[in-house]
Amino acid sequence: MCGIVAGTGVKNVQTLLLEGLKRLEYRGYDSAGIALQGQDGRVHRWRAPGKVVGLEALLDPKIAGSTGIAHTRWATHGVPNEANAHPHQAGRVTLVHNGIIENFKTLRAELVAAGRTFSSHTDTEVVAALFDHLIQSGRPLREAWLATLSRLDGAFALAAMVEGEPGVVFGARRGAPLVAASGAGAGFLASDIMAISGKAESVVYLDEGDIVFVRPDNIEIVSATGKPVERQLVAAPRSITMAEKGNHRHFMQKEIYEQPEVVGRTLAAYIDTEDGKVSARNGVDFAQINRLLIVGCGTASYAGQVAEYWFEKLAGLPVKVDIASEFRYRDPAFLTGDAALFISQSGETADTLEALRLCKKAGLQTIALVNSPHSSMAREADVVVPTLAGPEIGVASTKAFTCQLTALAALAVQAGVQRGQLDDAAEESRVADLMALPGLMNSALATESKIDSLASELAHASIVLYLGRNELFPMALEGALKLKEISYIHAEGYAAGELKHGPIALIEDGVDVVVIAPHDALFSKTRSSIQEVRARGANVIAITDEVGARELEGEVNTVLSLPAVNGAMTAPIISAVAVQLLAYYIAVHKGTDVDQPRNLAKSVTVE
Ligand code: M6R
Repeated sequence: MCGIVAGTGVKNVQTLLLEGLKRLEYRGYDSAGIALQGQDGRVHRWRAPGKVVGLEALLDPKIAGSTGIAHTRWATHGVPNEANAHPHQAGRVTLVHNGIIENFKTLRAELVAAGRTFSSHTDTEVVAALFDHLIQSGRPLREAWLATLSRLDGAFALAAMVEGEPGVVFGARRGAPLVAASGAGAGFLASDIMAISGKAESVVYLDEGDIVFVRPDNIEIVSATGKPVERQLVAAPRSITMAEKGNHRHFMQKEIYEQPEVVGRTLAAYIDTEDGKVSARNGVDFAQINRLLIVGCGTASYAGQVAEYWFEKLAGLPVKVDIASEFRYRDPAFLTGDAALFISQSGETADTLEALRLCKKAGLQTIALVNSPHSSMAREADVVVPTLAGPEIGVASTKAFTCQLTALAALAVQAGVQRGQLDDAAEESRVADLMALPGLMNSALATESKIDSLASELAHASIVLYLGRNELFPMALEGALKLKEISYIHAEGYAAGELKHGPIALIEDGVDVVVIAPHDALFSKTRSSIQEVRARGANVIAITDEVGARELEGEVNTVLSLPAVNGAMTAPIISAVAVQLLAYYIAVHKGTDVDQPRNLAKSVTVE
């Protein structure tokens, strides 16, 4: 949440910052701002509520400079208006911040008592004021920066500059991502290497507690006490493919369409295609694990919920799935032989990262299933199991989710083999099912035009319920989440069998109910749930397969027929395509901002 980009020694820093903000906009888009030290020795600042494009219109390209900082905001303290937009200024200090300063009220009261005034409602302005206050009181800049940071509680990444000192950017990382980099005589700071890709030649992924002074010719990293800290400088990724929409109208649509390809790529990392077996090169031995804890947030946690069925069915491995924000504060009780798997697209989600640290501290083996190979989770976990979805730009997760499911399915087969629950034939048959996924997903995408016309009817709904059983129950949750996120329609997912225990009271004439019901072992049970809601006037849309479609003829209002799948591992992944397309087209018909829906951010790095 919130994106920071900064540079010093840059030929045209305004262009660098603007481009960097555009690349970081996925982190938040409530407001944006840029400040640079002009050649006239003054700091120039532009800020605008809303997206970066609004800021761009305000910029004055004639004002040149080589040092500057910029920010795209996801509001925590204070509404998203210009006054609360970053960079914040106090005296000589200009500063941007990602995170939350928990003790800002105390600090603000102290600074007010010392005669300072404030022009925003943010916690950030307090940090700028404190830094400036310490400089004005005569402390050398370096000492003032360390003293400022020593007063802050909370989680943050910061970048600051001081008027009249154009050769340095001050940074700090505590609980929010920050990278420092250099290239072509310039120094950079950014929330994500993507912001400075193409400019940076070498990069340092800062660690927790690192304080950094970035200069055009060097990156100096120190601890809270000012002692030098050695960090590995690695070659910056040469080019991080900047996602383009291509012929698609939205990134989300493009990412839905990329799924056959990226699922195939992810499969290749887990499966030995030659002999049709799982490759198990990741170093996880599920035979040594007595219970697997799976932790994530949002869509990632739903991937974990689907996997719970798979690990239990295929490997007899007990699983407990938790939402990270609950898990980390619950004082979880551990058992001997527990291992913990963390699922995250970004690898930076604050609650999931803290849950990982908690498990690590408790001595559990930690496994990170992440899409972002340089993320904090990837660096801190004992084992990394990757998804190869590539950059996901749409805020609503699509291809990262199906890649998570794909990797989890392969891991569940690996666990089944390692725990002696799957023999060679069973393993090969499961692997063959998985290998069919890209083709099946392509066929599922062919339902697009039918889904589009259904979506035009559902765009007027005020409530949509999603039902499913077993692995398809979490898919009902995911379908409802996708719809809520991008269309703002109230949607809920339920286990079909739970309907009678309360949710059925919501059903009345015309309420839309999406039932995910492939023709599997529980089809007849789900069919009963369909009859129960139909009897009460619901408009039922069944997402099923060819056999299911035949059986349900006349029993539901609309049938979406997906390709027939073999077995429980592929059905959720194929149905994901349908629920994604449905949410996507409903949002398109409603005219909402599909890729950057209101109030959300792609990477939630504050708790
Ligand atoms: O980066 P992560 O996978 O850790 O993010 C977790 C959730 O914030 C994320 O899945 C969120 O629910 C998405 N907006 C869902 O579409």
